[in-house]
Amino acid sequence: MSLDLDKRQRAMLREMGVRLWQPPPAAGLVPVSDAINTVAVDVRTERAEARFDAATPAARSAPPERVPVPSVRQAPAPVRAPTSQSAPGLQSRPAGVELMDWPALQAAVAGCRACALCQSRKNTVFGVGPAAAGGAPQIDWLVVGEAPGENEDIAGEPFVGQAGKLLDNMLLAMGLQRGSDDTPLRAGVSKNVFITNVLKCRPPANRNPEPAEVAQCEPYLKRQVELLQPKMILALGRFAAQSLLQDSVPDVQKIPLGKLRGQVHRYLGVPVVVSYHPAYLLRSLGDKAKAWDDLCLAMSVAPTVAHSV
Ligand code: URA
Repeated sequence: MSLDLDKRQRAMLREMGVRLWQPPPAAGLVPVSDAINTVAVDVRTERAEARFDAATPAARSAPPERVPVPSVRQAPAPVRAPTSQSAPGLQSRPAGVELMDWPALQAAVAGCRACALCQSRKNTVFGVGPAAAGGAPQIDWLVVGEAPGENEDIAGEPFVGQAGKLLDNMLLAMGLQRGSDDTPLRAGVSKNVFITNVLKCRPPANRNPEPAEVAQCEPYLKRQVELLQPKMILALGRFAAQSLLQDSVPDVQKIPLGKLRGQVHRYLGVPVVVSYHPAYLLRSLGDKAKAWDDLCLAMSVAPTVAHSV
């Protein structure tokens, strides 16, 4: 796979605020990911997760691990038993999430009252992908963010605000378009992506998710992964990274996001690449180039996955 960029990808990177820098000929071949610089764009941040630690820039000391995309799925580990809730109006998470099919899982999330977020939410936000009749959409890419914000709570769809616009541009640069976007697909672009969050309900005032909320929602994300069978997961931001890597990276809560980048992790056998959250990128313009670096890493690990680069 070549990471040379065509006109469309260059346009998308411009949209992301990433400017390409041509290395002097004497410098020889410089990977695109190392050869990008950033320009300032003035965009408003909309979610509190932009507060998350700016994450020490991870200098890649060694080339990223190159791992084959698994052809056989690993058997899922059993999920924790639902925790019973004592607060008024709350109920245990529906039993048997680990065995649910896609429609049952959607219904379980829609009716979930396992934590207090159900009391303030307008809508649950299950995720968005290409249309599928009855079952899980057929996708290779799974994007996991943090939690719905105000716009997402109203729309019932993840990443529909400013951060979502940036995410859409990042995806388009990879040849991917969100399932609900009805604009005609351009050449080389597919809807081969599902977008979801760690939390399916909005934390009030866009505060950070609490550990108990993440724990309650975790089986839903896990089942989504089992049913979607993505070939690559992009974990955007600290909460997605921590949630997906808690069983594979010791003390992941203590590791800055920047140090989780630049490697290929695994969740249920699926490769996971960690990157910055789009809301953070909206105000930390200098890290957009690193985010593109992460997307290039993901694309290089999954070269057979349908994206147009
Ligand atoms: N931030 C997220 O992490 N998810 C969304 O859906 C919107 C903003």
